[in-house]
Amino acid sequence: MGKVTVLDHPVIKHKISILRDKNTGSNEFRSIIREITILLAYEASKDFTVEEYDLNTPICATKGYRLSGKKLGIIPILRAGLGMVDGLIEVFPAARIGHIGMYRDEESLKPVEYYLKIPKDSNKRDMLVIDPMLATGGSACDAIQRLKEKGCTSLKLLNIIAAPEGIKKVQKEHPDVDIYIAQLDEKLNKDGYIVPGLGDAGDRLFGTK
Ligand code: URA
Repeated sequence: MGKVTVLDHPVIKHKISILRDKNTGSNEFRSIIREITILLAYEASKDFTVEEYDLNTPICATKGYRLSGKKLGIIPILRAGLGMVDGLIEVFPAARIGHIGMYRDEESLKPVEYYLKIPKDSNKRDMLVIDPMLATGGSACDAIQRLKEKGCTSLKLLNIIAAPEGIKKVQKEHPDVDIYIAQLDEKLNKDGYIVPGLGDAGDRLFGTK
């Protein structure tokens, strides 16, 4: 079963509270999503490998380290996932960025993909799938499924806030995918919103409420 890592830290608690506040405007909301994503990126890359190399400081010769593992891919799930891209490329500027957009057909309830473009060599990359809210887990599972069908073999999921229902679904359907979240919330309400949550992350990021 995929591992779940929750960022348990006073700074995260502080920032999540500002995100939750309905009076926080889009500009501050975007900045904090970016800041928390940077902290998630550090946590999700703890198992990356490094190689040693020789370098000279102004004082002496010493050993340096550089990341030596697979190249990275970042896949925001449209549209709210876009809000996490800036934070990730700050930490991993060389990462390639793909996009996936899906919705559920209201009659068939089947996922319909309306956009998918990912790096050509995604099968050789570590792929970080990003979406601020892991609610029912439906779109995350559908997106991961499509990425696997496209050849991706190394996937991690990064969310700002998750509900237990979403985590359970991803763990069941994609036991090979580890999940990194900043905050685990209580539950979903009858409309599928996370409680206490922060409302609709896309609307709050882009001011479309
Ligand atoms: N998506 C959101 O943006 N918010 C929720 O609470 C659930 C899903």
